Amino acid sequence: MESIKILGGQSLKGSIPISGAKNAALPLMVLGLLTDEPLVLEGIPNVTDTHSMRHILEGIGTSVQHFSKRFVLQTHHTTSLQASYDDVRKMRASFLVLGAMLGRFGLGQVSLPGGCVIGVRPINYHLEGFKALGALIDTSNGDIIAKAPSGRLPGGHYTFPKPTVTGSQNVIFAAVLAKGESRLDNVAIEPEITDVITCLQKMGAKIEGKGTSTLHIQGVDALSGTQHAVLPDRIEMGTYMVAAALTRGDLIIEGGDLALLPHVVECLEQSGSTITELGHNRIRIQGHDRPQPFHLSTAPYPGFPTDLQAQFMTLAALADGESTIVENIWENRFMHVAELARMGASITLDHHCATIQGKPHLTGAHVMATDLRASVGLVLAALVAHGETTIHRIYHLDRGYEVLERKLQNCGAIIHRIGSQEEFMTDQHDGVSAVAS
Ligand code: EPU
Repeated sequence: MESIKILGGQSLKGSIPISGAKNAALPLMVLGLLTDEPLVLEGIPNVTDTHSMRHILEGIGTSVQHFSKRFVLQTHHTTSLQASYDDVRKMRASFLVLGAMLGRFGLGQVSLPGGCVIGVRPINYHLEGFKALGALIDTSNGDIIAKAPSGRLPGGHYTFPKPTVTGSQNVIFAAVLAKGESRLDNVAIEPEITDVITCLQKMGAKIEGKGTSTLHIQGVDALSGTQHAVLPDRIEMGTYMVAAALTRGDLIIEGGDLALLPHVVECLEQSGSTITELGHNRIRIQGHDRPQPFHLSTAPYPGFPTDLQAQFMTLAALADGESTIVENIWENRFMHVAELARMGASITLDHHCATIQGKPHLTGAHVMATDLRASVGLVLAALVAHGETTIHRIYHLDRGYEVLERKLQNCGAIIHRIGSQEEFMTDQHDGVSAVAS
């Protein structure tokens, strides 16, 4: 199993290009199921989640060709209207194919996703939404089977009890090809959803209310192909901004959009960083002294994103005073706390609230990645820690960060990947000998 080694203490300087957003790319790829014409997507990030989505779509019958980050998807006919447990287990976003299959083919079967490390992650609102549009839902051997009784959904009205990102996308996918009209209330308004709606509109979908929490959707008989560029990844951008703040660095972030991170910018400025918009989607961020403490609560967009909580926990661990972080989206998204403690962080947890007493420095250690964002929080900690850190189970990182090591190396970080379990064992052995001697 691969690991990453980082020798901390370098101040990052240089420029970092932002990749296409993973959480927009995944639902955009699913749109390939909604038309028989080619859908051309530019800027699909080369991460394992997009590889997994490609595999699932090919299993359903979509032809997927790619030329670097340009994907051409086309679904003339299906070979199987099914996504198996193995697919859904690897990546919960694969559940998105159910709404698209139901919308276009009137039938779909997807394994019921289980819990996951950051929380239970139910799908009840996805299913209630499908039912409100007229679908029949059944379960069989752990699979959800969704069916339009007369081959095509009539459409209907659904109010999401709380905003859900993939839930909103799934129900929108089912509604765009319905026979009639649908109204969806309390829809999530994350920029990734807006990006998906923009692409759907280019394909001919009749959707009113983009960017708001109420959508009116008039079903159409067929959608056409189109060409669309994936939104830049605001979470990747926020991650590298924290890297600059922590290492007292000076980074130019290329291709991101600051407007998509309102609370994040506020929090970074409050903690002492200087952020300057340079125009043409270029942003400069400079970290100066030790970060000042701050208080944040995660919330649906436009609130503070849960997907940046772990990164800001690392910033708080080094702040000059006490910070608090409240996690309101996922009940178990504090797995990085124990690992940060191994590096010397002082964090106490009380249900969904973390209180962090900032320390002047952290020290390198062996730590374990537990999920995508927790892993990158550890990378950030390692960049400033005294000494060397080894991060294990980094396949989590590869799910969502494109060429992370290269981007950081180009700015002066001392980071490299070690390949095999054997190297890890040798490495640990060396570590033990070094201590013994
Ligand atoms: N929820 C329900 N019932 C549902 C759906 C959601 O109770 O049917 C609850 C969840 O338990 C949670 C809240 O609603 O408390 C919000 O969950 P949401 O459905 O919005 O999350 P998601 O769609 O499964 C997406 C991102 C996550 C991100 C969340 C919140 C994708 C592929 N995933 O997940 O991204 O944390 O929205 O913004 O878009 C990541 O990239 O690391 C990641 C986990």
